[in-house]
Amino acid sequence: MEATSDVAGKSLELWHVLAITLAGVRHRETSCDGLAATKLVTLCILHVAVENIAAIYLRHCDIVAILQRQTISQEREFMPVIAVSNPKGGAGKSTTTLLLATYLAQSGASVCVLDADPNQPIMDWKTNGLSKTTLKVIGGIKESNLMEVLDAQNDQFVFIDLEGTASVLVSRSIAMSDFVIIPVQASAVDVRQAGKAIRAVKDEEKVAQRSNMLRKIPYRVLMTRTPAPGAPVSSVQRQLETELVDAKVPRFRTSLAERLAYKAIFVERLTLAELGEHKVGNLEAAYQNIHELVEELVETLRGLDRKRYPNEQ
Ligand SMILES: Nc1ncnc2c1ncn2[C@@H]1O[C@H](COP(=O)(O)OP(=O)(O)OP(=O)(O)O)[C@@H](O)[C@H]1O
Ligand SMILES: [Mg+2]
Repeated sequence: MEATSDVAGKSLELWHVLAITLAGVRHRETSCDGLAATKLVTLCILHVAVENIAAIYLRHCDIVAILQRQTISQEREFMPVIAVSNPKGGAGKSTTTLLLATYLAQSGASVCVLDADPNQPIMDWKTNGLSKTTLKVIGGIKESNLMEVLDAQNDQFVFIDLEGTASVLVSRSIAMSDFVIIPVQASAVDVRQAGKAIRAVKDEEKVAQRSNMLRKIPYRVLMTRTPAPGAPVSSVQRQLETELVDAKVPRFRTSLAERLAYKAIFVERLTLAELGEHKVGNLEAAYQNIHELVEELVETLRGLDRKRYPNEQ
């Protein structure tokens, strides 16, 4: 919302400057005619388009710069495996996975999603859609092949989209991950059940510590389907946030807002960038939200990498 109004504000300013300049030129030449007005409108439309493209491009450059600054690189062989998990169905796991993975891929990172949900939502998105994303998706992940598939990966980021239930595959995936994202819908029932998702991660950590006392499985709760910035925040929502703070639950500062664009990526089987404004409005704000989340994720992973290699910058 804010980003869109920002761009709209700048465009209005440009319109103003352009109008005054052209009016001055016109005044010196002849009186303003129909052709001049058409030129003026065309120029302004071009400016608005360039401004929008520039805003999107700059955001990509930001992420690319962050990726380049990262110590997470193939050279260092730290390939973060990120499980996206919550036994609660419909918490936003697949949506979060796809948005993060496609955004990172578009920013130039090599990214792979392992679809470990028997319903194969991301595999379906990839194989039955027309997206030109460089994102790699591997379907048919089972307990029996998970380790083998993971060993064969050398991408900068590997996401595992898990099913909305507790299973051996979920446990094993968490156990093999460097980081777990726990999407939680911003509703009282979901927030109060988030404890189950957190316990699943802690249980795996305890099991892993029996063979390696230093093993940690860091996690963060991600609030999903929250009211978009600017929309009124209900008192229930505020109370839920307070509960999470009081319980000292590690969570992302950024939340994933409820947006039509995030539904549309599955309906159209395209990335956010490929949707285009004609398919769904307010893409600018949808982009901004994912940009902030990716930035926070990358910074968090960078912190984990520093813990592994504390003597390096
Ligand atoms: N931020 C969002 N804005 C709008 N709709 C969303 C958002 N997040 C999720 N949804 C919608 O909520 C529904 C459930 O989302 P999703 O499939 O990502 O959940 P899930 O946790 O992967 O579910 P499952 O447990 O079945 O695998 C989908 O219809 C999706 O489009
Ligand atoms: Mg899912």
